[in-house]
Amino acid sequence: MLKNRNVNVSNSDHVGKISDGFQKQFGSGPDIIVRCPGRVNLIGEHTDYNDGFVLPMALPFETLIAASSSEDAQMKLISEEFGPAHFSLEDNPMGTSGWGRYIHAIGSLLAQSNGGLLGWNGYICSTIPIGANLSSSAALEIAAGMVFKHLGKLEITLTEIALIGQRVENEFIGVRSGIMDQIACALSQRDTALLLDCHTLQTSMVSIPEDVAVVIMDTGTRRELRSSEYNKRRESCESAALDLGVPSLRNASLDDITNLSNQTLRRRARHVVSENKRVLNTVKAFSTGDLLTAGQLFTDSHLSLRDDYEVSGPALDRIVEVSLGAPGCFGARMTGGGFAGSALALVARDEVNNFCKFVKANFTAPRTQPAETSVMLYVVEACDGVSVL
Ligand code: GLA
Repeated sequence: MLKNRNVNVSNSDHVGKISDGFQKQFGSGPDIIVRCPGRVNLIGEHTDYNDGFVLPMALPFETLIAASSSEDAQMKLISEEFGPAHFSLEDNPMGTSGWGRYIHAIGSLLAQSNGGLLGWNGYICSTIPIGANLSSSAALEIAAGMVFKHLGKLEITLTEIALIGQRVENEFIGVRSGIMDQIACALSQRDTALLLDCHTLQTSMVSIPEDVAVVIMDTGTRRELRSSEYNKRRESCESAALDLGVPSLRNASLDDITNLSNQTLRRRARHVVSENKRVLNTVKAFSTGDLLTAGQLFTDSHLSLRDDYEVSGPALDRIVEVSLGAPGCFGARMTGGGFAGSALALVARDEVNNFCKFVKANFTAPRTQPAETSVMLYVVEACDGVSVL
């Protein structure tokens, strides 16, 4: 059986490597090492900012931060992949560009609510593919939030850190994203998917049947401008809810949305309302081991995202089409924000090798959307959320 193929789960090598990196950079060992996983969303796409349901799980990909407190508000950070970021927590995070802004903004928001904070020196490395819709930015936010919590001895819960991470995206990065990614990175538990009600933030753990494997298929395509389309979708949902006189699309039924005269808004709303149902039906199907139904719900979700919500893309459509013809596949769909990046498939465990071979042999990114990195397939098991090592 293939487990976590091509994926580095935190092991002593990985931890040793980050300690050494920190030591080399800062001249002594770190006070703390935090790991935070990326996430894949099994189903429930573009429902989180509509107060709906989502079903993500944490991945064996992770971001590690080794850190030690400094004496003042200065932050000196080195990312193994992206180089240095230096700033003061007393300055406005908008003055920090690139990846450093995520951590700067987390620190500023925590400093506002906790009355000032000391900075830290940090060494960061990550195995989460960037731009693959696997939540590399949420993992960075939650990992940094945990470092601030522990070094600053802050009385703050994981859910509060997650909400601060979402504010960073909304207020400092310009993506009006929902809460799914941050909650998934923070609260997931090994061997289970996390059912999250985005209205109440109530969570429950959902077992994934043992005879099925989750395969992530990173098409290698990336898209820079997805945040503007993302924000447009959110606005459409808000307009649809306003037209229907409900607080959010969570409160609308399929019957209600036939009252929307604007055809685009009607299609957007139909996706959200039907997707919420699909999440709850997937949970039911998992509980009875009904993989045919679960797979069909995944595929229906993809079609709805492609046709009604219009957030898929040529490469995602193609890899879903190829995987649906592959051995052992119960269903497949794009995952995350969309447009490029990754899709996932539910595959019979005893067919997973044949499935991967088939997809590798038959998928190439379409000419209209060339890949930037090579196609990667990962057979993943659900992991724990953020932790201090
Ligand atoms: C991105 C956002 C999430 C969610 C998904 C789509 O990952 O960060 O909040 O909206 O897209 O389901």
